[in-house]
Amino acid sequence: MFVKRQRGWELPEHAATSEAAFLNRRQLLAAAGGGLLLGAGGLRAKAEEAVDPTADLYPAKRNELYTIERPVTPEAINSTYNNFYEFGSHKRIYQRAQALNIRPWEVRIDGEVENPFTIEFDDLIRKVSVEERLYRHRCVEAWSMTVPWSGFPLKDLVALAKPLSKAKYLRMETFHNPDVATGQKQSWYPWPYVEGVTIEEATNDLAFLVTGAYGKPLHKQFGAPLRLALPWKYGFKSIKSIVRFSFTEERPVSFWEQIQKNEYGFWANVNPEVSHPRWSQARETVLESGEKIPTQLFNGYGEYVAHLYDGLEDKEPLYM
Ligand code: MTE
Repeated sequence: MFVKRQRGWELPEHAATSEAAFLNRRQLLAAAGGGLLLGAGGLRAKAEEAVDPTADLYPAKRNELYTIERPVTPEAINSTYNNFYEFGSHKRIYQRAQALNIRPWEVRIDGEVENPFTIEFDDLIRKVSVEERLYRHRCVEAWSMTVPWSGFPLKDLVALAKPLSKAKYLRMETFHNPDVATGQKQSWYPWPYVEGVTIEEATNDLAFLVTGAYGKPLHKQFGAPLRLALPWKYGFKSIKSIVRFSFTEERPVSFWEQIQKNEYGFWANVNPEVSHPRWSQARETVLESGEKIPTQLFNGYGEYVAHLYDGLEDKEPLYM
């Protein structure tokens, strides 16, 4: 089943620019309002934060290995401009996302592992060490931001899972609950959202499972309680609100790949020289300033990840 629809981040470059202009106005409003523009949904989220069973873990100690040369995107801007198609195919889903119930939250680990198991998120997070990292985030739509994520390396989850040697890929899946996430009633999308990486990518130091941001447990619109951050890849690889990690022999087919594989491939590594079929990836609009800056190969993280792709250049479409 396959219906091609224009999605928010499939805009041509000129349309992406007007989003940036919109954001500049938002920034002014946020500054004038002196805080988050979250309304009633945000107030509810704030009340939940107060009782979040993991609140004691934040703010986490910053790991200075992962720093950025750009200012951090203000929380008020970042938390009101999100891609989370489960709650709508536009950027202003932050209030709708507050409907997501994130407790209890079970995480299933299965596939090619010694022993499949299910674990409560609140138990999982106590088995790892939470730290803060400053990461750049580059959306395929050609906007970018910088975020203080908190969480733990994905490789620590891989270690807990004990994959068998035949496991070559890690497939991740978002929750599926159309009653709450009304975007999932849009039957032309292949719900639930799925993403995948190779085991080598999953165990790279940069691959980070995010549990918090801006020194607090994760806002729901960011993909609470557990999302991925793969800063060298386009943002759609960074799957939100994960409920399942499956270790597989076969390469998983991701959500957008199922919809439009000639535009959103499995690898999706950032490369300014490889255009999206419908717009250039050479530059990116910085979310908070509207400034257009050059995009960097692997989003500037080549020293950590370029080696993962040695010998694959001619065999695989690494940059789409
Ligand atoms: N994960 C799920 N489950 N659903 C989504 O729609 N959107 C992706 C990614 N992860 C998405 C998702 C895209 S396109 C981007 S750019 C980032 O989340 C956006 O993350 P942010 O809202 O925290 O900026």
